[in-house]
Amino acid sequence: MNYQRSVTNPSSEEKLLQSVPSRYYTDPALFQQDKEKIFYRTWQYMAHVSEVVQPGDFITRRIIDQEFVITRDNDGKLHCFYNVCQHRGHTLTKGDGNCKLIVCPYHAWSYRLDGSLNIARNAENVPGFDKSAIHLNEVQLEEFCGFIFVNMKDDAPSLKGMTGDLEQEILEYVPYIRDLRMVGETLLNHSCNWKVTTENFNECYHCAVVHKTYISKMVALDKYRVIPNGITLRHYSVGHPKEVAAYKYDPLHGGKGDQFATWYIWPNVAISCFPGGIVSVRHFRPLEVRKTVYAYQWFRDAATPEQDVKDLMQRHHDTNGMEDLAIVNGVQEGLESNGYDIGPLLVDRERSEKSEHGVAHVQALYREAIGLSV
Ligand code: FES
Ligand SMILES: [Fe+2]
Repeated sequence: MNYQRSVTNPSSEEKLLQSVPSRYYTDPALFQQDKEKIFYRTWQYMAHVSEVVQPGDFITRRIIDQEFVITRDNDGKLHCFYNVCQHRGHTLTKGDGNCKLIVCPYHAWSYRLDGSLNIARNAENVPGFDKSAIHLNEVQLEEFCGFIFVNMKDDAPSLKGMTGDLEQEILEYVPYIRDLRMVGETLLNHSCNWKVTTENFNECYHCAVVHKTYISKMVALDKYRVIPNGITLRHYSVGHPKEVAAYKYDPLHGGKGDQFATWYIWPNVAISCFPGGIVSVRHFRPLEVRKTVYAYQWFRDAATPEQDVKDLMQRHHDTNGMEDLAIVNGVQEGLESNGYDIGPLLVDRERSEKSEHGVAHVQALYREAIGLSV
């Protein structure tokens, strides 16, 4: 018997919320559904614009089983194409680099940086071959706060349009966000479904239990707030005084001094601004139903000492990174148990730092995306 479904909170008008059933975290067929209904249709983080600066620069990136090449053409315009030749389907690029033309390794068809076909060997001797009709398969690309997002859905509304004043708010914190350069990236292999990772990210109920260093030295837990709105969840707090002192932050450098903010954009990326204006991106990359890569990228502008960013990167990896790794793996193991299906979400009246309303919000977005009513 599943008693949890019928529990209500007697002291509140609000109904006690219940989590998404565990099979949505363990069933490979439901992961395929997540892929098609969510990752093929939403704005997906790819890179910072500084990774594709010069005409001819290209980067190769994946979203689960789909690979893309992002180019900057000779007019300075960014493009994103499926990384596949339109002849007989060989993949085109590997890694990052610079080129004048994209040349297929199979029969050496070449494409211009805007995706148009340049040369198809021997095509001039083939009746009916129309070179102008062939073009790399392009997907929507949008530059948002200096970050490159793409969307495989042709008619998806713009990310800016879907996020209201978010870009303006981020620019108030980090006016120089387009000038950032990546300092480094750490990758953690989570042995769990992507939703375990992203739900864990959107609540600080576990912080007092799991992240002792974080709350005693890095961020003020009692001021930590998560504010959901549409496809975004905004996390705010202030840097712990010890943290601010230890890293010699210039309070005038970033737009908001010692303030800490994270802007989570559904379904799987978060941009953060740390005290002093250091920026990070956390990108949660689903691979399989029980495999997710937690990519943690760190950026700085010319005014921020590189060593400060490297120190912060290492400390986040050693503390929150490793601590959350153990937690999410433990959750996945539990979700496989026949002794668990759904559980209550502790959404408190104040939406305090201990509240799980952020989890409830991402689960509501999930239910809506896949058409789930339970
Ligand atoms: S598959 Fe690319 S040139 Fe033939
Ligand atoms: Fe955590």
